[in-house]
Amino acid sequence: MKRAIYPGTFDPITLGHLDIIKRACKIFDEVIVAVAQNKAKKPMFTYEQRVEFVKKVTKDLPKVKVIGFEGLLANLSDELKANTIIRGLRAVSDFEYELQMGYANASLKPDLETIYLMPSLQYAFISSSIVRAILAHGGKIEHLVPSEIIGEIGSK
Ligand code: PNS
Repeated sequence: MKRAIYPGTFDPITLGHLDIIKRACKIFDEVIVAVAQNKAKKPMFTYEQRVEFVKKVTKDLPKVKVIGFEGLLANLSDELKANTIIRGLRAVSDFEYELQMGYANASLKPDLETIYLMPSLQYAFISSSIVRAILAHGGKIEHLVPSEIIGEIGSK
């Protein structure tokens, strides 16, 4: 059983995240999308909302399981018996942060591997922070987030 964890804050989940989840499903038998509580980031959406949004948009993907987590990813990977982490990589600007996080996780757990997947070019500019910035000014986000959650997100 090839199992991978796709961790993130998902504040909120975007079409780019969903693209990465679908790609991961082609490679792994089970993809556990792990929504970090991440209080330090002061998310726009609550932990419960973020988990709910991810569940809603992945409900038709049989290989996907959605969980919330608090604490270290390295510990979660022990608990779930999954030694592969998936992260999306869009541009050079992502690279430094991802490199640091990958090495930090490997320093805590040497057999933890991180695999980086690129989204389709059409999603390469999308990030949760872009979505939040547009939302804050009442702009349209239909082309950025999955349709299933537009209603709930738009009313924020
Ligand atoms: O979507 P994000 O905000 O880029 O995801 C970051 C996330 C949740 C993957 C990262 O903050 C994380 O792994 N948090 C758990 C705490 C942890 O293990 N930190 C050590 C590695 S930096």
